Amino acid sequence: MNTRIGTDTDEAAYHLKRGGLVAIPTETVYGLAANALEARSVVKIFEAKNRPGFDPLIVHIGRLEQIFELARSFPREAARLTEKFWPGPLTIILKKRSIIPELVTSGLDTVGIRMPSHELTQELLEKLPFPLAAPSANPFGYISPTSAEHVAAQLGDKVDYILDGGVCSVGVESTIISFEEKVPEILRLGGLEVDEIRRYVKNFKIRTASSDNPAAPGMLTGHYSPRTPLVIGDINDLRKKYSDKKVCFLSFSTNYFEIEGEILSKKGNLNEAARNLFAAMRRLDASDCEVILAESFPEKGLGMAINDRLRRAAAPKTA
Ligand code: TXA
Ligand code: MG
Repeated sequence: MNTRIGTDTDEAAYHLKRGGLVAIPTETVYGLAANALEARSVVKIFEAKNRPGFDPLIVHIGRLEQIFELARSFPREAARLTEKFWPGPLTIILKKRSIIPELVTSGLDTVGIRMPSHELTQELLEKLPFPLAAPSANPFGYISPTSAEHVAAQLGDKVDYILDGGVCSVGVESTIISFEEKVPEILRLGGLEVDEIRRYVKNFKIRTASSDNPAAPGMLTGHYSPRTPLVIGDINDLRKKYSDKKVCFLSFSTNYFEIEGEILSKKGNLNEAARNLFAAMRRLDASDCEVILAESFPEKGLGMAINDRLRRAAAPKTA
């Protein structure tokens, strides 16, 4: 297939209405979208990504009222978060209604819902009479795409259209918080900082990258992984340890002059670092480097999401 890339939301809407697949830009990462209410369209997402059926998809909406068509309950604290942070990098997990095909939620009784803030995708959602199911537009387990070129390189022949919205402004996936139980639980650290959530939700739990998480199989360690092995620690120590290998570095703001690498933010800004993370990991993965030596980031703000992605990239592959 000769995939078209462009900024035409009419063309994107046309394909989606016919049951096709369209890659969409969001502020976090690019998504691979289909009509969320039609199983025969959604199944194409799983095929294109090589995604196992046990990993549920997030449903993207353009208007808040759509929540009531999709979810059976909307707890007060969830409403407060959406009021403050939507559109934005926040996904909420709520009890689902039967209008959503089982395939979307992998048979779970809940659904993940998010309102993305990218202008082009908002314009697209306005043109559609249905919400969009969309996982990140990468092959299962690999690094998420933060530009239209990333999508074209890996899934270009499997989508009908790529809506090109430029480089994603946040750069890591949405923060996921579940309201399934009485005490809300963060299932994935992401583009919305935990401290921001704390301002509006008094009591919640956090599940970390290290714990196995059967409720959200996509949270498996070994996700977001480059093919090149990645290790985390003090880069100078690691250089000695891997002196027999061609190594490269992935750092926050420090340059390690004798080896090649990627500095995510020269001025030491965590938001800028998050924005650059996945593109930098892709470049290192495409180079002749044999081991990526990565620093731990400050465990605050978006540094928490960056560390989470690095830990998963460093974990033994599960997919
Ligand atoms: O920023 C994002 O969230 C991006 C953009 C495209 O919106 N999407 C994204 O989708 O990262 P994906 O499929 O790569 O990751 C979503 C994760 C899944 O791995 C899944 O485990 C979890 O969300 N998830 C979805 N529905 C869930 C549910 N009902 N219960 C628990 N976890 C759920
Ligand atoms: Mg993903």
